[in-house]
Amino acid sequence: MTWEELEARCMACQGCGLADTRRHVVFGVGNRKADVLFIGEGPGEQEDIQGVPFVGPAGQLLDVMLSVIDLDRTSVYIANIVKCRPPRNRDPLNTEQDACIGFLRAQTALIRPKIIVCLGRIAAMRIIDPNFRITRQHGQWFQRAGVHMTALYHPSALLRDPGKRPETFLDLKSIQGKIKELCPGTFVDPLLPAKERNP
Ligand code: URA
Repeated sequence: MTWEELEARCMACQGCGLADTRRHVVFGVGNRKADVLFIGEGPGEQEDIQGVPFVGPAGQLLDVMLSVIDLDRTSVYIANIVKCRPPRNRDPLNTEQDACIGFLRAQTALIRPKIIVCLGRIAAMRIIDPNFRITRQHGQWFQRAGVHMTALYHPSALLRDPGKRPETFLDLKSIQGKIKELCPGTFVDPLLPAKERNP
């Protein structure tokens, strides 16, 4: 399937009840050839209004987190487990995740990332391990089918509890190290002057 076919199918999806209350389908954003795929949980209010993932308060923090390790929205791809906003930002139901996960699978097959970063418990439980414990296992690395995977605290959790930020800084540095090891096209040496960096 091509990106265009996939996006058109996703935009027209009526696969679960979230289709009835959404304003926009939030397909995904970023570099379709990225080595690194970030996966969140599902759109919030701002994302539902704008049709773009992580543009509300949590998204602003995600942009800062990316910049800490010299990444931005042009160097990674960002998508969610469910593409439509759950009412009042409740956790997406398993039935909703089941109805939607095929789109993320197809996106992942097209991107073929080397690294997947799950943002929060819901994404980590869906992508890494159904028994994933975010408080204990954030920052740990897992490998499946040659893809390296890890999870960070969700940016919303970091907004609610800034005490989690130092641990997240270490997790981000670990991701930067993995990118340096595996993804020469994505790694930016922060000590290189800007004009000598790869575009
Ligand atoms: N939280 C998410 O998990 N995804 C978004 O796109 C926005 C907030």
